[in-house]
Amino acid sequence: MSDVADNRILTVGLGDRSYDIVIGEGSFAEAGARLRDFARDGGLCVVSDENVRDIYGGALTETLGRAGLRYDSFVIPPGEGSKNISLLSGIYDWFGEGGRLKRDGLVVAFGGGVVGDLAGFAAATWMRGVSYVQIPTTLLAMVDSSVGGKTAIDTKRGKNLVGAFHQPSLVLIDPTLTETLPERELRAGFAEVAKYGAIASEGLFGRLERNGRATGLSDVIHECCSIKAKLVEEDEFDAGRRAILNFGHTFGHAIESKYGFAKYNHGEAISAGMSMAAAVGERLGVTDKGTAARLDALLSRLGLSSRESADGLVAHMRSDKKALADGVNLILLKRVGEAVVHRMSWDELEETLHG
Ligand SMILES: NC(=O)c1ccc[n+]([C@@H]2O[C@H](COP(=O)([O-])OP(=O)(O)OC[C@H]3O[C@@H](n4cnc5c(N)ncnc54)[C@H](O)[C@@H]3O)[C@@H](O)[C@H]2O)c1
Ligand SMILES: [Zn+2]
Repeated sequence: MSDVADNRILTVGLGDRSYDIVIGEGSFAEAGARLRDFARDGGLCVVSDENVRDIYGGALTETLGRAGLRYDSFVIPPGEGSKNISLLSGIYDWFGEGGRLKRDGLVVAFGGGVVGDLAGFAAATWMRGVSYVQIPTTLLAMVDSSVGGKTAIDTKRGKNLVGAFHQPSLVLIDPTLTETLPERELRAGFAEVAKYGAIASEGLFGRLERNGRATGLSDVIHECCSIKAKLVEEDEFDAGRRAILNFGHTFGHAIESKYGFAKYNHGEAISAGMSMAAAVGERLGVTDKGTAARLDALLSRLGLSSRESADGLVAHMRSDKKALADGVNLILLKRVGEAVVHRMSWDELEETLHG
């Protein structure tokens, strides 16, 4: 197959669950040729949402058609509200209709993190697991949710409460697909990008400080995915080091939940959460002085706010699924580019937050 010139390929090395992350501007036009290696006779089922279908559905049909691939698609309403058991059940019924998806079939998650998590979980569980490919269309999904094999749906008791680890067979990332993203979604993606700089790459952090959102997206995505790939290789099932990807998320989830998931989107909430975690780290003497101010300046350069009140947050943190009985493992920075896991009791945390 002829490769688009600037495609770059990362491999997530997980033995027989290893897979490639292909990153390239224009690579979406080659999706058909890439998918042909994975599509077999058991059906090709694409899950996407209405926005993605409206913008890119025609182009998907074209690239798959050129590769001689026929597909069926299941289109969900956009937004977090779709990551639920009744849509999942609808997908199972659709897979089963007329034997549409067999054990050797392929699922394609074509959309943002919502589609990726829902379609990924459907693939993880259908006939005890079928192959799937991620074609992420939001910046957040390109740098985070499409890589690493976490799949989930929400229940009325909380986000991502039901899920499975199921690695994709391929992640195909075309950064130009972000050109149609609403401004707020793009900004949310940059919060995750800043996170990668903060926890693992002072170089990336510095480039973002210098260039803001004009930093070349392809390079940014490549660096974020390579950081995530390494962490996933080291700790596929999230029992140790992979936890540093949660920097800003314990506070962020509490902020999302405090406002009933309405005031802030995920990226905005974790932006405030990262800022809070950096301040807490400095107060505890874990984080080098000046780090919080530097992080806040970057977030504001990226158009993200970092101010949020700590009132009532600990109550929400206690019901987070990552909470321990007597406290929480917070991810703190040592400095820009280095993160540590720091165990804290609820009392200690309350004191530090309001100290
Ligand atoms: N599995 C993981 O490791 C992981 C990691 C991080 C986040 N997540 C999950 O990801 C979800 C959030 O993902 P998200 O931020 O991508 O949200 P999303 O999937 O809801 O997409 C955001 C919005 O952008 C629209 N959209 C998507 N691509 C577009 C495009 N190219 N052009 C125009 N509009 C487009 C969507 O229709 C939607 O309205 C959450 O459910 C979160 O739990 C999972
Ligand atoms: Zn996140």
